[in-house]
Amino acid sequence: MSRLTRIGAAMAAISSVLVLAAAVQNAPGDRSGGAGTPAPRGASSPATGAPAQSADAPATMDTFDEGMERAGRGFKALRRSALSAATRTADLAAIQSLQSGLLMAKGAASALPMSPNAEKKFADDKAAYETALRRDLAQTLRQAIVVEAAMLDGSSESAKAAVAKLGEMQEHGHTLFQNNE
Ligand code: HEM
Repeated sequence: MSRLTRIGAAMAAISSVLVLAAAVQNAPGDRSGGAGTPAPRGASSPATGAPAQSADAPATMDTFDEGMERAGRGFKALRRSALSAATRTADLAAIQSLQSGLLMAKGAASALPMSPNAEKKFADDKAAYETALRRDLAQTLRQAIVVEAAMLDGSSESAKAAVAKLGEMQEHGHTLFQNNE
């Protein structure tokens, strides 16, 4: 793939995250990450989770798994973190990994076969299944942006609460959509 195509793919990935971030900011009752949120100074370009790799990957189960693994590494680090000013640089790298992994998995969601629990719920309504899967992944990604907004606001307690909610969303997604065998 040419350099220009890669840059284009990276821009596309970044703009999808920005659209989701805008949706979070506009959500009624949500005051986290308002217009005055400062830029993450001194924490640019963390080595983990480059979005360019997620945007141009083929929609296969390998891509889905790779995205989830990346999200898992980021999430594990966040759960263990104090989410304080002292851990900010590492936290921003971890949240980047989590978001780009979820975005990558979402891009390959069409490759995921129905789990037994999804079959019980959706039977042969494949369109409803695909919509629900994509919606869950998008909402989880949005929640990961809520976590980041709390970090950028310097609000450790809000960030911890948002991480806890993310854990519930992960559990819900895995219970319904994951094949366990
Ligand atoms: C905080 C959010 C999440 C994290 C950190 C996360 C992390 C992971 C990890 C580490 C794996 C194992 C990957 C592997 O063994 O290859 C996995 C698998 C999986 N995740 Fe997630 N996940 C999250 C949210 C979700 C959501 C919201 C959904 C669905 C809506 C989902 C669907 C799945 C499925 C279907 C698999 C199994 C894929 C397979 O069969 O190989 N995950 N996830």
